Amino acid sequence: MTWKSFYKTGEKLDYHSFEWRNHIDDMVFGPDSRESEQLKELLTRYPVQTALDVACGNGDTAIFLAAMGKNVTAMDQDISRIKRVHLKSILAGVQLETACGDMRDLSSVYRHKCNLIMCLQNSLSRLIDEADIWGTLAQMYLALEPGGLLVIQMFDYDRLFQEKRPSFSEICGYNSELGVKTFFEYERNKSNAKFIFEVSSQYSAGRKADRIVFPVRPIFQKELDMWLAELGFRKLDNCEEVKGSYISGETWQTVTAAFRPGVTDNH
Ligand SMILES: C[S@@+](CC[C@H](N)C(=O)[O-])C[C@H]1O[C@@H](n2cnc3c(N)ncnc32)[C@H](O)[C@@H]1O
Repeated sequence: MTWKSFYKTGEKLDYHSFEWRNHIDDMVFGPDSRESEQLKELLTRYPVQTALDVACGNGDTAIFLAAMGKNVTAMDQDISRIKRVHLKSILAGVQLETACGDMRDLSSVYRHKCNLIMCLQNSLSRLIDEADIWGTLAQMYLALEPGGLLVIQMFDYDRLFQEKRPSFSEICGYNSELGVKTFFEYERNKSNAKFIFEVSSQYSAGRKADRIVFPVRPIFQKELDMWLAELGFRKLDNCEEVKGSYISGETWQTVTAAFRPGVTDNH
């Protein structure tokens, strides 16, 4: 069988066990090897000792960083994912901390400070309320050491809306034994939207595709930049370079990197 495997740990999901239901967003939005390499490149340019992944999903990124010798906390609101990440870290022979909690309550879930916070693979726009997004970004600021880096990876909503696609459109799909078609649907005001994953398997021909819906709050780049600036973050000067490499090709992801100014910064 040739399931789409997760990067590095090579975890495979069995359609018949319905395990994929809990991981479908990871499978579609999770980092591929190229994105992970780019993240590694970004991190090698900045001295990171402690990292927090606030919505770790399948944990591949957190495990990847822990394997680089970073002191990593993998957090997610979903306890089943956290248990799985813990097991995967043991199997991968790396040590990391896990924390189960909602990133909207970051300050009560994570009581340390770190050099790097990651909010990857569209997790921020899963907070569908604007006040929640803003409040979460504020807590991220406070959880960062001065000089610490925040990396947000999101779906490229600007591109999606610029392309004037119809309000319901197929944005990507791939062929494997577990076929996933991804659709994006939005309302007229553009702030209510959802991703819809239609999943089918060649082993269940004739069965209607399973449909899983994830509501999102599309976040536009200018909006995010403004929130970050209002909160005191400074954009990373060479972010365009990183961003460019993320949005090249057919990937729909975009990255924003910003830092909490350090005591000795004179930017
Ligand atoms: C696409 S996955 C993240 C993938 C992962 N960050 C990566 O890079 O591969 C989205 C994750 O966000 C988590 N999530 C959604 N809302 C959350 C919240 N409010 N607090 C913490 N985790 C959340 C989900 O449980 C899911 O595991």
